[in-house]
Formats: sequence, C-alpha cells, structure tokens
Amino acid sequence: MEQITNFIGRYKNYNFPTGQTTAEYIDSLQSFEIQDSDIFLVTYPKSGTIWTQQIIISICELDGSLNEYPNNLEQMPWLEYKLVPQDYALRPSPRLFASHLTPALMPPGLKDKKAKIIYVMRNPKDNIVSFYHFSKANRDLETPKNFDHFFEEYLMGNVVGSSWFDHIRVWHSMRDEYNILFLTYEDMVLDLKAAVTKICIFLGKNLSEAAIEQVVEKSTFMNMKKDSKANYDFLLQDRMKGDFMRKGKIGDWKNTFTAAQSERVDQLLQEKLGDLSLKFIWE
Ligand code: PPS
Repeated sequence: MEQITNFIGRYKNYNFPTGQTTAEYIDSLQSFEIQDSDIFLVTYPKSGTIWTQQIIISICELDGSLNEYPNNLEQMPWLEYKLVPQDYALRPSPRLFASHLTPALMPPGLKDKKAKIIYVMRNPKDNIVSFYHFSKANRDLETPKNFDHFFEEYLMGNVVGSSWFDHIRVWHSMRDEYNILFLTYEDMVLDLKAAVTKICIFLGKNLSEAAIEQVVEKSTFMNMKKDSKANYDFLLQDRMKGDFMRKGKIGDWKNTFTAAQSERVDQLLQEKLGDLSLKFIWE
C-alpha cells in the first residue's frame, strides 16, 4: 500500500484509512467466496451506511433469520477492514457486509447476480459537509484545516474512499452486472417507509405492515441515536470524539457552502456525471 499521507494509504487506485487493512487482505477479496444468501450494503462514505445497515439488520431480525451480535458493526462488518477478527466463511447465513469499495476491489463472485447489493447514494453537497464533520471527529482521519481546504481535497478525491464522482459513476455504469438496488439518502429521508418496503421487496422478505412499521421506528434518526447497538457510540472511547449520528438532514450544506462552492459542485456534476441523468434532491 502506498502511503499518501499519515492517514491515507492508496492501493489499486483507492484510498484506505491507514492501519485498518492491508494490500494482501484486499487482494484476498478476489477469491472471497460469495454465498447466494449474502447481502452487501455499498456506499461512498457518509452516504447513509449505518442507517441502511440498521434497516437491513432490523428487517432480517424480524424475519427471524439472524444470529445475535453485540452491535451493528459486528452484525454487518465492513468487508474491507478486518475490524472484526473472524473467519467470514464460518458466519451463519445470511451474511451481511458493508463496504465502501469500488467494483474492481469487490469479490468477483458478486457478478453471478445471486447475492444482493444495496447501493445508497447521497447528494454530494451534504456528503461533503457530513464528511468534513466526521473527519474532525474521527481520530483515524486527518483533521481538516478548515472547510474550504477539505472541500478542495474532497473534489480532488484526496480523502478516504477516493472520489465521490468516480464511485457513483463506476457503480452506476456497472449496475447491470450485479443484483443491485439503488437508493438515495434523500428518498430515505423523505419517505422512510417506502424505502424500507423497497428493501424488503428486494431482499425477498415478506414482512407484515406492522413489522415494516417496526423497522421504520427502529430506523428513525432519533431512535437510532438512542440505540446503543446502532449509534456507534461504542467506537467513542478509542476512535471518535464526536457523534456518528450528527444531524441526519437534507440541505445542511446550505449552512456551510458559499455560493461559489455550490456552483463548483453543480458544474462538476454536469461535467463528470451529466450523462447519467441522475436526479438530486438538495433540500
Ligand atoms: S460512514 O462513516 O461512512 O459509515 O457514515 P454513514 O453512515 O454513511 O453516514 C453518516 C451520515 O448518515 C446520517 N444518518 C442518518 N440520517 C438520517 N436518519 C438516520 N436514521 C441516520 N443515521 C445516520 C448521519 O447523521 C450522518 O450524516 P450527517 O449529515 O453528518 O448527520
């Protein structure tokens, strides 16, 4: 892994947080055996990962198909980090994994289209602001000098997860090669029940109306913030000095962006992703 800064190591064109994985482990994912019942949640960082994680876990729990783990991180570990020392081949099915990786780094067996992938995208302006605050709070990431500096680094892809634009383009353009459901953070905020229902249908889980309501309740921002299995406060002592569950809103970028920064993002979206006809909700 090529050391880019004290906090970023680059391997195969992708920026990893230092010390949390190795090139050998990432290479080993090329022979990672996929099971038909596997469920993967893929996102660019700060796009609603732990939220969707809570939804998927709650759905599978109500469906009676999960073993109990102490928290959501252990229930649905990040594929690329060996934070959970465990042989994944021995995990009971369905195995749940989260990942911020790009398709080239993911296990090729996902292309058999049996295992399921849920991809969540968030509008890049709120994504930048969320990433900025997270970088200030997380000891594993470089503390930004200020917002303007972080904004430039993000646009250049000099952050963990590399470029948001590349992540969206590559997953979107390869979507037909996978069994994938695309969701947006904003659609989830605007109608959580509809998002939960879509996920249930995609996962083939036939939950009652009451069970769907229960998943929605467990996944609201306020309830997740109080839920010690889901709010990631368990990382507080060693890795975090702030909340994972910060605001959970659409449009917070307006409190931070200048008009010029907003125009820059609009322009880049047009230049880099204009041909994908993606729709963004900004407020
Ligand atoms: S990470 O570190 O990549 O796993 O972060 P990620 O979970 O992708 O993104 C964190 C942001 O998601 C918000 N969040 C929620 N929003 C609405 N409702 C619920 N239930 C919810 N849970 C998490 C979290 O607050 C972060 O966004 P910001 O804008 O910083 O608040």
